[in-house]
Order: sequence, then C-alpha cells, then structure tokens
Amino acid sequence: MINLKHFLRWRFGLADAETQTTADERDAIARHAAGKRCLVEIGVWHGVTTCRIRAAMASDGVVYAVDPYPIGRLRFSFQLRIAHAEVARIPNGRVEWIRKTGEFAARDLSPKLDGEVDFVFIDGDHSWEGLKGDWEGWSPLVKPGGIISLHDSISTRLRPIHEAGSVRYTQDMIRRDPRFQVIEEVDSLTILHRLPV
Ligand SMILES: C[S@@+](CC[C@H](N)C(=O)[O-])C[C@H]1O[C@@H](n2cnc3c(N)ncnc32)[C@H](O)[C@@H]1O
Repeated sequence: MINLKHFLRWRFGLADAETQTTADERDAIARHAAGKRCLVEIGVWHGVTTCRIRAAMASDGVVYAVDPYPIGRLRFSFQLRIAHAEVARIPNGRVEWIRKTGEFAARDLSPKLDGEVDFVFIDGDHSWEGLKGDWEGWSPLVKPGGIISLHDSISTRLRPIHEAGSVRYTQDMIRRDPRFQVIEEVDSLTILHRLPV
C-alpha cells in the first residue's frame, strides 16, 4: 500500500523517485562513471543512481541495469515502472534492463562481458551472502583499472549499519582481495579499482 501511494504521488508529480544514497555518494558515483563505456548497476530501485550513471557515461556507452524487481500482490512492480520512466529521461548512451539478481546476471553475461567491464556499482542485496554472490560474480569481469563501488559498505554516524552483512563482507573479504585497491571512501560508499595484472 505504501508503494501504491508513493507511485500515485510520483505519477502526479507530487513525489520524487527515492534513493538511500547521499548527494556526496551520488557525485562520487557520477565522477567514477564519467566517460566509461561498459557499466553495471546492481540494485536499481527507482533509478536515481542509474540516471546519474547514464548521464555521466560515454555517449556510445551501455549501462546494464540489474534488479529482479519482484512483483507484489498486485502482480506489478511500481519500482520498475518508475525506474523505466526516470532513466528514459536521460538522453545519453544505452540502457539494458536485466531483471535478475546480480549473481544470476553475472553468470548469464560473463561470456559477453568478461574483461570488458569498466565500472560496477553494487547496491542490491546487502546481506553477507548477497554481496558475496555479486562480488564473486562481477569482480572477475572488471578490466584492470576498472572500478567497483559498493554502497552500504561502511558504517557511519548518520548511517550506523555496522551489523549489516555488506559492511562485514566488505571489511573482512573485499578489502583483503589482492586484485583490488580501495581508492576512495565517501559516506557509506567504498570505491576500489582493479590493479593491473
Ligand atoms: C537500495 S535499492 C537500490 C537503490 C539505487 N541504487 C539508488 O540508490 O537509486 C536496492 C535494490 O536492490 C534490488 N535487489 C535486491 N536483491 C538484489 C539482488 N540479489 N540483485 C540485484 N538487485 C537486488 C531491490 O529490488 C532494490 O530495488
């Protein structure tokens, strides 16, 4: 019911698309997506960060927008409808919508994208197992010098999430991955780049 109310308010211009990212996080995402040609976002929701990525990427780039968008009791995803409309307003590059979990999307797209990916923003399933599936699926596909940014990977005073699986998996596993190096932290966002082989 909350989703339906927000959808109607959004439809009549009374509410914006929602995001849990901060303005500084969105600016950092856009900065690292700038000029890239093969980009992936895992966890799209209303498409707020997808819009920033699409606006910043190269004009001949493609962003894969990955989200399973489960259908609710009304057999309709309000989130998907909002995301399609919001992202369609950005006249740059191309978007491919992948209605799957990050883990399944990586499995399906790996023959095509292996070593091709310039930028990944992971903001889907924030459990330990969820981020593990996304990391193990997507990190091998990123080219040397490519970027992976992780939302909800740092607990902050404004966003105290130290118990979240995504924070623990980032600290215990991802930050120790010798293939990657942390290059920036912004609020709850960790940004890493892949080291040359
Ligand atoms: C926090 S929202 C993403 C918000 C968006 N990145 C933004 O800031 O504008 C999380 C989204 O992840 C999706 N999601 C949940 N589990 C997922 C998974 N395993 N793979 C991909 N997306 C998932 C949910 O359907 C939801 O739309």
